[in-house]
Amino acid sequence: MAFPKNFTWGAAAAAYQIEGAWDEDGKGPSIWDTFSAKPGMVFENNTGQVACDHYHRYQDDVKMMKSLGLQAYRFSVAWARVLPEGIGAVNAKGLAFYDKLVDCLLAAGIEPWVTLYHWDFPQALMDKGGWRNRDSSLWFAEYTAHVVDQLSDRVSNWMTINEPQVFNDQALRIESGDMKKKPPVADALQCAHHILMAHGRAAKVIREQAKKKPRVGWAQVGVSYFPSTHSEEDIEAMRRATWQIDPSNTWSNIWWLEPVMKGEYPAEAAKRYGKYMPKVHDGDMQVIAQKLDFIGLNIYSGDEVKAGENGEPIKMHQAPGFPKTTMGWNVTPEVLRWCPRMVWERYRVPVMITENGMANLDWKTSDGHVHDPQRIDYLRRYLREYRKAAEDGVEMLGYFAWSIMDNFEWLEGYKQRFGLVHVDYATQERTPKDSARWYQEVIATNGGSV
Ligand code: BGC
Repeated sequence: MAFPKNFTWGAAAAAYQIEGAWDEDGKGPSIWDTFSAKPGMVFENNTGQVACDHYHRYQDDVKMMKSLGLQAYRFSVAWARVLPEGIGAVNAKGLAFYDKLVDCLLAAGIEPWVTLYHWDFPQALMDKGGWRNRDSSLWFAEYTAHVVDQLSDRVSNWMTINEPQVFNDQALRIESGDMKKKPPVADALQCAHHILMAHGRAAKVIREQAKKKPRVGWAQVGVSYFPSTHSEEDIEAMRRATWQIDPSNTWSNIWWLEPVMKGEYPAEAAKRYGKYMPKVHDGDMQVIAQKLDFIGLNIYSGDEVKAGENGEPIKMHQAPGFPKTTMGWNVTPEVLRWCPRMVWERYRVPVMITENGMANLDWKTSDGHVHDPQRIDYLRRYLREYRKAAEDGVEMLGYFAWSIMDNFEWLEGYKQRFGLVHVDYATQERTPKDSARWYQEVIATNGGSV
């Protein structure tokens, strides 16, 4: 079986990771501007101040995307570029950048997929308490309305937030000034509640105010598993692992998805988190549970699960020397079949892979090329598994490779290279890696060459 007919093939990036121009044209600071400027926080004190300079080079970058045959490009809008204070006065020049980017993409025949929030919270609003503040969802809705008003005559694919599981935790660590310190569960859950409300309010704004009929989703990361064998017992154990609450962290799929899809926190959560459960006001759950057109999944790696004696899920450890990316993440292609399948099975909403890819030790070799056979193998194996999800009956909209180009990898700075296209940060030269050429063929054959 093949990939579905209307399948969308794209690549993704995010504002802070590629744009640079951190204080140009009236942009306000985000928490990542402030945080990365503090010595010792990011690998080699790298910052996103210049990054890939995409803000100035977007036209050439779009040309490059076109030359690779990309059908869609997922990018994020920098909230503080549009609203330097996070709320209030709009920065017309900031908004104009995204306007031009969208036009340029459409002229190149590339569909824009817009993420409203990819971790760069406006510093001015962090100073008002960030996601701790119950008003945060109203701030986000205000910002969303401006972006939707400006772009929705041409954009139809929207994602509210990217990986709430990660940025919730991260924002609290940044706030505490200690990235190694785990935030208290009660704080994390209360902020998560506000984040869920922000998602809901934004989804409602998009649905009600978009000029072009929108497709609304979000991009989550959650936890991914795959079964040790295809026995019914192992598959059931993996299903249980996928939907259980792990009280040791605030990442559980069910914690985030159940409120969004069903308008309630899972009953098990109250038992597991007890007194740490968030304060929920009347009407909050209705705000959170907006209809979604797709569930975006960022999937990189996952754990193998097998059934114990009583069917309980047991997480397996891989043997020493198991293949890993330079992030230290296990290469586990099967998650691209099983995680979409679990989500589809439970919610019956189409799935979009909003991120998948790997960091590798890439450099330009003496022949002038960037050879990345590991990435080609990684993508091929993951895509083959994703195709099996289609065979299993999962409704899937498409696939975004992370990332279109090497970029600022958060705490890892420029050490980790995730791109299909190599970036020389000294000269800003772009060189498509072997994997970019390989992906071009994948797109041209609708996955037939995988
Ligand atoms: C994030 C990206 C990040 C990538 C690789 C995801 O967690 O959405 O911003 O660069 O994974 O770590």
